[in-house]
Amino acid sequence: MKRMLSGIKPTGELTLGNYIGALRNFVKYQDSYELYVFVANLHCVTVYQEPKELRKNLKDAIALYLACGLDPEKCTIFLQSDVLEHAQLGWLMTCMTYMGELGRMTQYKEKTKGAKDESISAGLFVYPSLMAADILLYDADYVPVGEDQKQHVEITRDLAQRFNNRYSETFTLPEPLIPQVGARIMSLTDPTKKMSKSEESNKGCIYLTDDPAVARKKIMGAVTDNYAHVNYDKENQPGVSNLLEILSSLTGEAIDSIVARYEGKGYGDFKKEVGDAVANELTMIQNRYNDILKSGMIETVLKEGAEKAHRIAFRKLKKVQKKMGIDIF
Ligand code: TYM
Repeated sequence: MKRMLSGIKPTGELTLGNYIGALRNFVKYQDSYELYVFVANLHCVTVYQEPKELRKNLKDAIALYLACGLDPEKCTIFLQSDVLEHAQLGWLMTCMTYMGELGRMTQYKEKTKGAKDESISAGLFVYPSLMAADILLYDADYVPVGEDQKQHVEITRDLAQRFNNRYSETFTLPEPLIPQVGARIMSLTDPTKKMSKSEESNKGCIYLTDDPAVARKKIMGAVTDNYAHVNYDKENQPGVSNLLEILSSLTGEAIDSIVARYEGKGYGDFKKEVGDAVANELTMIQNRYNDILKSGMIETVLKEGAEKAHRIAFRKLKKVQKKMGIDIF
Protein backbone atom coordinates (compact mmCIF):
# COMPACT_ATOMS: atom_id res chain seq x y z
CA MET A 1 0.00 0.00 0.00
CA LYS A 2 1.38 3.42 -0.95
CA ARG A 3 1.94 5.82 1.89
CA MET A 4 0.39 9.27 2.10
CA LEU A 5 0.90 12.13 4.55
CA SER A 6 -0.48 15.59 5.04
CA GLY A 7 -1.06 18.24 7.68
CA ILE A 8 -2.92 21.43 8.42
CA LYS A 9 -1.63 24.41 10.36
CA PRO A 10 -4.54 25.71 12.45
CA THR A 11 -3.42 29.27 13.16
CA GLY A 12 -7.14 29.99 13.24
CA GLU A 13 -10.26 27.96 12.69
CA LEU A 14 -10.27 25.60 9.72
CA THR A 15 -11.84 27.03 6.58
CA LEU A 16 -13.92 25.77 3.70
CA GLY A 17 -10.70 26.14 1.64
CA ASN A 18 -8.87 23.72 3.97
CA TYR A 19 -11.81 21.34 3.71
CA ILE A 20 -12.22 21.32 -0.05
CA GLY A 21 -8.52 21.62 -0.94
CA ALA A 22 -7.26 19.11 1.60
CA LEU A 23 -9.25 17.61 4.45
CA ARG A 24 -12.09 15.99 2.54
CA ASN A 25 -9.57 14.40 0.21
CA PHE A 26 -7.73 12.85 3.16
CA VAL A 27 -11.03 11.21 4.08
CA LYS A 28 -11.42 9.84 0.55
CA TYR A 29 -7.90 8.45 0.52
CA GLN A 30 -7.92 6.73 3.91
CA ASP A 31 -9.34 3.51 2.45
CA SER A 32 -6.78 3.06 -0.28
CA TYR A 33 -3.57 4.44 1.23
CA GLU A 34 -1.61 4.11 4.44
CA LEU A 35 -2.46 7.61 5.62
CA TYR A 36 -0.76 9.83 8.21
CA VAL A 37 -2.46 13.11 9.07
CA PHE A 38 -1.15 15.53 11.64
CA VAL A 39 -1.81 18.95 13.07
CA ALA A 40 1.19 21.13 12.31
CA ASN A 41 1.45 22.95 15.64
CA LEU A 42 5.19 23.63 15.29
CA HIS A 43 4.39 25.44 12.06
CA CYS A 44 1.76 27.55 13.82
CA VAL A 45 4.26 29.35 16.02
CA THR A 46 6.33 30.87 13.21
CA VAL A 47 3.98 33.78 13.96
CA TYR A 48 3.03 34.60 17.57
CA GLN A 49 -0.08 32.75 18.76
CA GLU A 50 -1.98 33.57 21.92
CA PRO A 51 -1.43 30.32 23.90
CA LYS A 52 -5.03 29.84 25.04
CA GLU A 53 -6.36 30.43 21.54
CA LEU A 54 -3.77 28.15 19.97
CA ARG A 55 -4.65 25.33 22.36
CA LYS A 56 -8.32 25.69 21.42
CA ASN A 57 -7.57 25.80 17.70
CA LEU A 58 -5.45 22.65 17.91
CA LYS A 59 -8.09 20.69 19.78
CA ASP A 60 -10.78 21.96 17.41
CA ALA A 61 -8.72 20.92 14.42
CA ILE A 62 -8.46 17.33 15.67
CA ALA A 63 -12.18 17.30 16.45
CA LEU A 64 -12.86 18.55 12.92
CA TYR A 65 -10.56 15.94 11.37
CA LEU A 66 -12.67 13.29 13.07
CA ALA A 67 -15.97 15.05 12.36
CA CYS A 68 -15.12 15.25 8.66
CA GLY A 69 -14.73 11.48 8.61
CA LEU A 70 -11.10 10.64 9.35
CA ASP A 71 -11.22 7.31 11.14
CA PRO A 72 -8.41 6.51 13.62
CA GLU A 73 -8.92 2.82 12.79
CA LYS A 74 -7.96 3.52 9.19
CA CYS A 75 -5.36 6.28 9.48
CA THR A 76 -2.86 7.70 11.95
CA ILE A 77 -3.77 11.07 13.44
CA PHE A 78 -1.26 12.95 15.59
CA LEU A 79 0.07 16.25 16.83
CA GLN A 80 3.37 17.21 15.20
CA SER A 81 5.10 18.22 18.45
CA ASP A 82 4.27 14.85 20.06
CA VAL A 83 6.76 13.21 17.71
CA LEU A 84 10.04 14.91 18.59
CA GLU A 85 11.74 13.59 15.45
CA HIS A 86 9.99 16.28 13.37
CA ALA A 87 11.93 19.10 14.99
CA GLN A 88 15.17 17.15 14.92
CA LEU A 89 15.01 16.16 11.25
CA GLY A 90 13.74 19.72 10.65
CA TRP A 91 17.09 21.04 11.87
CA LEU A 92 19.03 18.60 9.71
CA MET A 93 16.92 19.61 6.70
CA THR A 94 17.50 23.30 7.50
CA CYS A 95 21.21 22.56 7.18
CA MET A 96 20.58 20.98 3.76
CA THR A 97 18.56 23.94 2.43
CA TYR A 98 20.04 27.00 0.75
CA MET A 99 19.06 30.57 1.67
CA GLY A 100 18.33 31.28 -2.00
CA GLU A 101 15.83 28.42 -2.21
CA LEU A 102 13.98 29.60 0.88
CA GLY A 103 13.97 33.21 -0.32
CA ARG A 104 12.22 32.12 -3.53
CA MET A 105 9.25 30.54 -1.76
CA THR A 106 6.08 32.33 -2.86
CA GLN A 107 4.39 31.93 0.50
CA TYR A 108 7.36 33.44 2.33
CA LYS A 109 7.42 36.38 -0.05
CA GLU A 110 3.68 36.94 0.33
CA LYS A 111 3.73 36.69 4.11
CA THR A 112 6.63 39.09 4.52
CA LYS A 113 5.65 41.65 1.89
CA GLY A 114 6.20 45.12 3.33
CA ALA A 115 7.35 43.77 6.72
CA LYS A 116 10.61 44.84 8.37
CA ASP A 117 13.28 42.14 8.84
CA GLU A 118 13.10 42.75 12.58
CA SER A 119 9.48 41.57 12.61
CA ILE A 120 9.91 38.37 10.58
CA SER A 121 10.79 35.25 12.57
CA ALA A 122 13.59 33.05 11.29
CA GLY A 123 11.07 30.22 11.68
CA LEU A 124 8.92 31.67 8.92
CA PHE A 125 11.95 31.59 6.63
CA VAL A 126 13.03 28.00 7.38
CA TYR A 127 9.45 26.70 7.53
CA PRO A 128 9.80 24.68 4.26
CA SER A 129 12.72 22.73 5.73
CA LEU A 130 10.55 21.63 8.64
CA MET A 131 7.75 20.75 6.25
CA ALA A 132 10.22 18.65 4.25
CA ALA A 133 11.15 16.81 7.45
CA ASP A 134 7.47 16.16 8.18
CA ILE A 135 7.10 14.41 4.85
CA LEU A 136 10.47 12.67 4.56
CA LEU A 137 10.35 11.10 8.04
CA TYR A 138 7.55 8.84 6.79
CA ASP A 139 8.78 8.20 3.24
CA ALA A 140 5.44 9.46 1.97
CA ASP A 141 4.77 8.62 -1.69
CA TYR A 142 1.99 11.21 -1.96
CA VAL A 143 1.16 14.47 -0.23
CA PRO A 144 -2.44 15.62 -0.80
CA VAL A 145 -2.50 19.44 -0.60
CA GLY A 146 -4.12 22.50 -2.12
CA GLU A 147 -2.31 24.40 -4.85
CA ASP A 148 -0.59 26.85 -2.48
CA GLN A 149 1.49 24.04 -0.92
CA LYS A 150 2.76 22.58 -4.19
CA GLN A 151 5.98 24.57 -4.11
CA HIS A 152 6.73 23.31 -0.60
CA VAL A 153 6.36 19.71 -1.72
CA GLU A 154 8.63 20.44 -4.66
CA ILE A 155 11.39 21.79 -2.44
CA THR A 156 10.93 18.65 -0.32
CA ARG A 157 11.68 16.55 -3.40
CA ASP A 158 14.78 18.63 -4.11
CA LEU A 159 16.01 18.16 -0.55
CA ALA A 160 15.34 14.42 -0.64
CA GLN A 161 17.27 14.12 -3.87
CA ARG A 162 20.13 16.24 -2.53
CA PHE A 163 20.37 14.02 0.55
CA ASN A 164 20.20 10.81 -1.50
CA ASN A 165 22.96 12.06 -3.81
CA ARG A 166 25.19 13.24 -1.00
CA TYR A 167 24.86 10.27 1.36
CA SER A 168 23.19 7.42 -0.63
CA GLU A 169 19.58 6.41 -1.25
CA THR A 170 17.59 7.25 1.91
CA PHE A 171 14.38 9.14 1.20
CA THR A 172 11.37 8.48 -1.03
CA LEU A 173 10.67 11.41 -3.36
CA PRO A 174 7.11 12.56 -2.58
CA GLU A 175 4.57 13.71 -5.13
CA PRO A 176 2.02 16.44 -4.44
CA LEU A 177 -1.59 15.35 -5.07
CA ILE A 178 -3.61 18.41 -6.02
CA PRO A 179 -7.37 18.11 -6.62
CA GLN A 180 -8.54 18.96 -10.15
CA VAL A 181 -11.41 21.05 -8.83
CA GLY A 182 -11.16 23.09 -5.63
CA ALA A 183 -7.37 23.27 -5.33
CA ARG A 184 -7.61 27.00 -4.70
CA ILE A 185 -10.85 28.23 -3.19
CA MET A 186 -10.99 31.99 -3.44
CA SER A 187 -12.21 34.68 -1.05
CA LEU A 188 -15.91 35.41 -1.41
CA THR A 189 -15.31 39.16 -1.16
CA ASP A 190 -12.28 39.27 -3.45
CA PRO A 191 -12.21 36.23 -5.75
CA THR A 192 -8.72 37.13 -7.00
CA LYS A 193 -7.34 36.22 -3.56
CA LYS A 194 -7.17 32.84 -1.83
CA MET A 195 -9.78 32.16 0.86
CA SER A 196 -7.76 32.23 4.03
CA LYS A 197 -8.16 32.44 7.77
CA SER A 198 -5.96 35.54 7.85
CA GLU A 199 -8.41 37.61 5.83
CA GLU A 200 -9.26 40.99 7.29
CA SER A 201 -13.00 40.69 6.77
CA ASN A 202 -14.90 37.64 7.96
CA LYS A 203 -17.30 37.78 5.05
CA GLY A 204 -14.90 36.37 2.48
CA CYS A 205 -14.06 33.25 4.45
CA ILE A 206 -16.30 30.41 5.59
CA TYR A 207 -15.17 28.58 8.70
CA LEU A 208 -16.15 24.97 9.31
CA THR A 209 -17.58 26.05 12.66
CA ASP A 210 -19.64 28.91 11.17
CA ASP A 211 -23.35 28.78 11.87
CA PRO A 212 -24.75 27.22 8.66
CA ALA A 213 -27.16 30.15 8.29
CA VAL A 214 -24.25 32.59 8.47
CA ALA A 215 -22.31 30.56 5.90
CA ARG A 216 -25.33 30.62 3.58
CA LYS A 217 -25.47 34.42 3.93
CA LYS A 218 -21.78 34.71 3.09
CA ILE A 219 -22.40 32.75 -0.13
CA MET A 220 -25.43 34.88 -1.01
CA GLY A 221 -23.27 37.98 -0.52
CA ALA A 222 -20.34 36.62 -2.58
CA VAL A 223 -18.93 39.02 -5.15
CA THR A 224 -19.85 38.00 -8.72
CA ASP A 225 -19.97 40.14 -11.90
CA ASN A 226 -22.32 41.80 -14.39
CA TYR A 227 -22.37 39.05 -17.02
CA ALA A 228 -25.51 37.53 -15.48
CA HIS A 229 -24.84 34.03 -16.76
CA VAL A 230 -23.34 31.12 -14.90
CA ASN A 231 -20.12 30.28 -16.67
CA TYR A 232 -16.74 28.81 -15.77
CA ASP A 233 -14.22 31.45 -16.74
CA LYS A 234 -11.67 32.08 -14.01
CA GLU A 235 -10.21 35.11 -15.70
CA ASN A 236 -13.35 37.11 -16.47
CA GLN A 237 -15.77 35.59 -13.94
CA PRO A 238 -13.61 34.64 -10.98
CA GLY A 239 -16.40 34.92 -8.40
CA VAL A 240 -18.87 32.70 -10.27
CA SER A 241 -16.12 30.25 -11.17
CA ASN A 242 -15.20 30.00 -7.50
CA LEU A 243 -18.81 29.23 -6.54
CA LEU A 244 -18.92 26.62 -9.30
CA GLU A 245 -15.81 24.95 -7.88
CA ILE A 246 -17.30 24.97 -4.39
CA LEU A 247 -20.56 23.40 -5.57
CA SER A 248 -18.89 20.87 -7.82
CA SER A 249 -16.48 19.80 -5.05
CA LEU A 250 -19.23 19.37 -2.50
CA THR A 251 -21.76 17.58 -4.69
CA GLY A 252 -19.51 15.74 -7.11
CA GLU A 253 -21.48 17.12 -10.09
CA ALA A 254 -19.22 18.15 -12.99
CA ILE A 255 -18.86 21.90 -13.55
CA ASP A 256 -20.12 21.57 -17.16
CA SER A 257 -23.28 19.93 -15.97
CA ILE A 258 -23.98 22.67 -13.40
CA VAL A 259 -23.34 25.33 -16.04
CA ALA A 260 -25.78 23.59 -18.39
CA ARG A 261 -28.50 23.51 -15.71
CA TYR A 262 -28.26 27.29 -15.25
CA GLU A 263 -28.31 28.15 -18.94
CA GLY A 264 -30.33 31.33 -19.39
CA LYS A 265 -30.78 31.91 -15.65
CA GLY A 266 -29.34 34.60 -13.36
CA TYR A 267 -27.26 34.24 -10.23
CA GLY A 268 -29.98 34.18 -7.53
CA ASP A 269 -30.98 30.51 -7.73
CA PHE A 270 -27.42 29.45 -8.39
CA LYS A 271 -26.13 31.15 -5.25
CA LYS A 272 -29.00 29.64 -3.29
CA GLU A 273 -28.00 26.15 -4.39
CA VAL A 274 -24.36 26.77 -3.48
CA GLY A 275 -25.43 28.22 -0.12
CA ASP A 276 -27.61 25.18 0.61
CA ALA A 277 -24.82 22.75 -0.31
CA VAL A 278 -22.37 24.55 1.99
CA ALA A 279 -24.90 24.83 4.84
CA ASN A 280 -25.77 21.11 4.58
CA GLU A 281 -22.13 20.09 4.64
CA LEU A 282 -21.44 22.27 7.69
CA THR A 283 -24.50 20.94 9.51
CA MET A 284 -23.34 17.38 8.94
CA ILE A 285 -19.80 18.13 10.14
CA GLN A 286 -20.91 20.16 13.15
CA ASN A 287 -23.32 17.51 14.44
CA ARG A 288 -20.42 15.09 14.74
CA TYR A 289 -17.97 17.75 15.91
CA ASN A 290 -20.01 18.59 19.00
CA ASP A 291 -20.34 14.91 19.94
CA ILE A 292 -16.60 14.36 19.49
CA LEU A 293 -15.66 17.33 21.68
CA LYS A 294 -17.94 16.00 24.42
CA SER A 295 -16.74 12.39 24.11
CA GLY A 296 -13.19 12.94 25.36
CA MET A 297 -11.84 10.70 22.59
CA ILE A 298 -9.34 13.27 21.29
CA GLU A 299 -6.71 12.51 23.92
CA THR A 300 -6.77 8.78 23.17
CA VAL A 301 -6.64 9.31 19.41
CA LEU A 302 -3.61 11.60 19.76
CA LYS A 303 -1.80 9.30 22.16
CA GLU A 304 -2.21 6.25 19.95
CA GLY A 305 -1.45 8.25 16.81
CA ALA A 306 1.77 9.66 18.23
CA GLU A 307 2.94 6.18 19.29
CA LYS A 308 2.37 4.78 15.81
CA ALA A 309 3.98 7.75 14.06
CA HIS A 310 6.92 7.74 16.45
CA ARG A 311 7.83 4.14 15.65
CA ILE A 312 8.39 5.06 12.01
CA ALA A 313 9.92 8.48 12.59
CA PHE A 314 12.40 7.16 15.16
CA ARG A 315 13.81 4.52 12.81
CA LYS A 316 14.08 6.98 9.95
CA LEU A 317 15.86 9.62 11.97
CA LYS A 318 18.35 7.03 13.25
CA LYS A 319 19.14 6.00 9.70
CA VAL A 320 19.62 9.60 8.61
CA GLN A 321 21.90 10.46 11.52
CA LYS A 322 24.02 7.40 10.93
CA LYS A 323 24.50 8.30 7.30
CA MET A 324 25.41 11.88 8.19
CA GLY A 325 27.97 10.76 10.78
CA ILE A 326 26.09 12.38 13.64
CA ASP A 327 25.41 9.13 15.47
CA ILE A 328 28.55 7.30 16.51
CA PHE A 329 26.96 3.90 17.24
P1 TYM B 1 -2.39 25.25 5.64
O1 TYM B 1 -2.73 25.04 7.07
O2 TYM B 1 -2.16 26.64 5.17
O3 TYM B 1 -3.49 24.58 4.75
C1 TYM B 1 -3.88 23.23 4.95
C2 TYM B 1 -4.29 22.61 3.64
O4 TYM B 1 -5.42 23.33 3.10
C3 TYM B 1 -5.11 23.77 1.78
N1 TYM B 1 -5.77 25.07 1.57
C4 TYM B 1 -6.56 25.35 0.54
N2 TYM B 1 -7.00 24.61 -0.48
C5 TYM B 1 -7.84 25.19 -1.37
N3 TYM B 1 -8.27 26.47 -1.26
C6 TYM B 1 -7.87 27.26 -0.24
N4 TYM B 1 -8.30 28.50 -0.15
C7 TYM B 1 -6.97 26.70 0.72
N5 TYM B 1 -6.39 27.19 1.85
C8 TYM B 1 -5.65 26.18 2.35
C9 TYM B 1 -3.60 23.88 1.73
O5 TYM B 1 -3.11 23.82 0.42
C10 TYM B 1 -3.19 22.69 2.58
O6 TYM B 1 -3.18 21.51 1.83
N6 TYM B 1 2.43 24.05 5.39
C11 TYM B 1 1.12 23.49 5.46
C12 TYM B 1 0.94 22.50 6.59
C13 TYM B 1 1.97 21.44 6.60
C14 TYM B 1 2.02 20.30 5.72
C15 TYM B 1 3.17 19.56 6.10
C16 TYM B 1 1.20 19.87 4.68
C17 TYM B 1 3.04 21.35 7.44
N7 TYM B 1 3.77 20.23 7.14
C18 TYM B 1 3.52 18.38 5.44
C19 TYM B 1 1.56 18.67 4.02
C20 TYM B 1 2.70 17.95 4.40
C21 TYM B 1 0.11 24.62 5.66
O7 TYM B 1 0.43 25.66 6.18
O8 TYM B 1 -1.14 24.34 5.26
